[in-house]
Amino acid sequence: MTQFNEQITLSSGTTLKNRLMLSPMTTQLSFYNGVITEDEITYYAQRAKGLGAVITGAANVQDIGKGWPGELSIAHDEMIPRLSELAKAIQGEGAKAIVQIFHGGRMTSRATLSGEQPVSASAVAAERPDAETPRELSEEEILETIQAFGDATRRAIEAGFDGVELHGANTYLIQQFFSPHSNRREDRWGGSLENRYRFIDELLKSVFSAVDTYAKKPFIVGYRFSPEEFETPGIRFEDTIWLLEQLRETKLDYLHVSLNTYDRIARSERYSDKTILEYVHDTLQGKIPLVGVGSIRNRNDVSRVLAHAEFAAVGQQMIVDPEWAVKLAENRDEEFVVKPFEKAYQELYLPSPLYNFLKARYQTTPNV
Ligand SMILES: Cc1cc2nc3c(=O)[nH]c(=O)nc-3n(C[C@H](O)[C@H](O)[C@H](O)COP(=O)(O)O)c2cc1C
Repeated sequence: MTQFNEQITLSSGTTLKNRLMLSPMTTQLSFYNGVITEDEITYYAQRAKGLGAVITGAANVQDIGKGWPGELSIAHDEMIPRLSELAKAIQGEGAKAIVQIFHGGRMTSRATLSGEQPVSASAVAAERPDAETPRELSEEEILETIQAFGDATRRAIEAGFDGVELHGANTYLIQQFFSPHSNRREDRWGGSLENRYRFIDELLKSVFSAVDTYAKKPFIVGYRFSPEEFETPGIRFEDTIWLLEQLRETKLDYLHVSLNTYDRIARSERYSDKTILEYVHDTLQGKIPLVGVGSIRNRNDVSRVLAHAEFAAVGQQMIVDPEWAVKLAENRDEEFVVKPFEKAYQELYLPSPLYNFLKARYQTTPNV
């Protein structure tokens, strides 16, 4: 079985010193226009020690893709110098720096978009309270959005990041194109599974073309996905298996399943004998490394994830326990923070946007 401290070389040629990653988590600490703040750089640097890679919180690739206030942006060239400082701060602690690139699609609001109507594959509102009905993207706008992911990749390269992760999970725009709930199009971008996959396929071409053109050293490209949706119609685990059969044949360096608990079982009866993580891992046939995630707090959790994945990503534990990975490596397990997260947050100094976000998360369950 994979040990957390084993190094690994990805297909791009990048070597990670171990199997631990910081799971992408928005801090809501950026300036109003998405430029990174000093507090945010400090936050990431404090948590990078002992990890193979840090994946940043979602960064929007276009202004219209902004999902919430305080979000990181990679939509304009003027952001490159500050992004570069973030990459250096993470790398200075010995971890690879990966920026998560994203577009919120319909999962945002006019208030966040300075009055603009949110956009999506189709004009269908999400099933959540106060959801706004988005405007359907035109063919031309779809092509611009795909180009924007390529441009964001170029900026990540120019800023000195080691890679990008495409945020195809948690109901945001990439997932909205694959989902039969949010994608009701009747043109080449909608309808069959193959057509709903076209957006992802074209995004990968755009991102890899930027890598081929601009990267002077190996550059990581990862992809995050959610296994199933609750809406009807919606993505079922069977659809995700099909998606993975496509993605495992690509040049991606890793796939990252988004889960709140690593031992979750799928809702689909056909896939109820094993955990989602196990089915996903089996489907990949060892062709692409898998990142597992969800409620990892101790050594046993890491081992259980690495039994069915090549990487373990850690989220909330790293917020409350910034040196957790160092403690793990030095066998200082008795020093792990073990309090329930709700309590641990309250006792920590956390910048107030992040603190408020976490407080809300424990009262509702936002799709982050
Ligand atoms: C504060 C917070 C912000 C998050 N932001 C993102 C995000 O920007 N992108 C993303 O893919 N997932 C996001 N997530 C989900 C986490 O990456 C992770 O999948 C989830 O929290 C489960 O892992 P954990 O139990 O180790 O926290 C966020 C989670 C939290 C708690």
